[in-house]
Amino acid sequence: MTDINQKLDPPPYKIKVVEPIKKTTRKERKRLLEEAGYNFFNIAAENIYIDLLTDSGTSAMSDYQWAGLMLGDESYAQCKNFFNLQSVVQDITGYKFVIPTHQGRSAENLICYALNLDDTKVTVSNQFFDTTRANIEISGAKAYDFVIPEAFQPSLIHNFKGNLNTGALEDYIQNEGDVSLIVVTVTNNAGGGQPVSLANIIEVSRIAKMNKIPFFLDAARFAENAYFIKLREKEYQNNSPKEIASMMFSNSDGCMVSAKKDGLVNIGGFIALNDEQIYRRIKERMTVIEGFPTYGGLAGRDLEAIARGLTEVIREDYLEYRHQQLEYLGKGLEKGGVPFIKPVGGHSINLDVKSFLPNIPQSEFPAWALTIALYEYYGIRAAELGSVAFARKQDDGKWIFPELEQVRLAIPRRVYSQEHLNYVIDSVLDLYKHRADITGMKIVYDPGVLRHFTARFSPLG
Ligand SMILES: Cc1ncc(COP(=O)(O)O)c(C=O)c1O
Repeated sequence: MTDINQKLDPPPYKIKVVEPIKKTTRKERKRLLEEAGYNFFNIAAENIYIDLLTDSGTSAMSDYQWAGLMLGDESYAQCKNFFNLQSVVQDITGYKFVIPTHQGRSAENLICYALNLDDTKVTVSNQFFDTTRANIEISGAKAYDFVIPEAFQPSLIHNFKGNLNTGALEDYIQNEGDVSLIVVTVTNNAGGGQPVSLANIIEVSRIAKMNKIPFFLDAARFAENAYFIKLREKEYQNNSPKEIASMMFSNSDGCMVSAKKDGLVNIGGFIALNDEQIYRRIKERMTVIEGFPTYGGLAGRDLEAIARGLTEVIREDYLEYRHQQLEYLGKGLEKGGVPFIKPVGGHSINLDVKSFLPNIPQSEFPAWALTIALYEYYGIRAAELGSVAFARKQDDGKWIFPELEQVRLAIPRRVYSQEHLNYVIDSVLDLYKHRADITGMKIVYDPGVLRHFTARFSPLG
């Protein structure tokens, strides 16, 4: 375990290619913010100093992956890179059928189609990620989150805050009726990258089998989840992350994967499963919306990069360092008393904004205000997971605000060094000291749907 008084261990890789980043002045950033309508999605990436907006598609690829790009076989059908990807995915997951997709959300869309989801159907998850929920809801089906209640207590330490509440799932099946799909998201992105235990996956599997419900993993961060299991579930401490990942997959019917996270690539995804009928349905649809089933909307070279990324992400030395980086960041923030969701997640630190800025009501978008301050003062871009993204207007016009108001500092894989993390720690500690200076925001343009991407704001006060 990392001790914050010590330095981080050196990463298990060295740097061969660098990408310059630019420092701007606070005066420049104030102007940029004004021009951007105080929406960090409108700020040119070249004006961001440290970009913690997302860990998705932002990984640094290895020399082995870049070399693989040169081996891209761009044949339309049956390219050799597909077979390389298929064999790596089969080796890790144990599933028979592998279908590449251009990213995670198209994998979700294809699963919804293949399972014939419609407005008579109900689906359940620990917590659906936004795109999974959107794909299910577009089909007409209901999407219910059954994450354990501990997930909503930011300062509570719990080893597996991403677990699905299996008691609630069984009650639902007994009392309310059929469920057409169960999805366990590993790790739980909507809940701050919190892991799911193998015991929980096994119990969900038992319930799913007993009730003949298809059970899929949304496995974008399967390797990070496997490493948490190794650290926190005693029975598996002597298993390798790859063996643990295989156990996760062998207890579910299939997976849909955005390879932009634990595939260590900038684009790509896949589905893997055993059921031949579902596989055939996916292939039918696939050709219409993604491309021939052996390339799935990707170039042959992209398939190769995913195949190689998957062999690297599951290595224990890589996962250990990745985990230590997050722990290091968490301990650094904890030293200054900064409130965040405990314990530290697998890919992000999620600041608990209700405690960070208790005087700003949710109607004045405190998490958004915090992200703006992080950019204005330090050039850091983070993501708002609060009242801008998640508040909902009821039919009577009243706003319902989300239970948690969060700012997510997502750490791209193999991108930032300890010095960058130190800069982030110092910046957040400094901002926390001066938190009384932060004021709320008001929305001056609200597009309605997915408003966080395009809304415009002005600072209050
Ligand atoms: C858990 C989870 N599932 C699915 C997706 C969607 O993947 P993509 O962005 O590749 O479409 C994401 C993206 O962040 C995710 O975190």
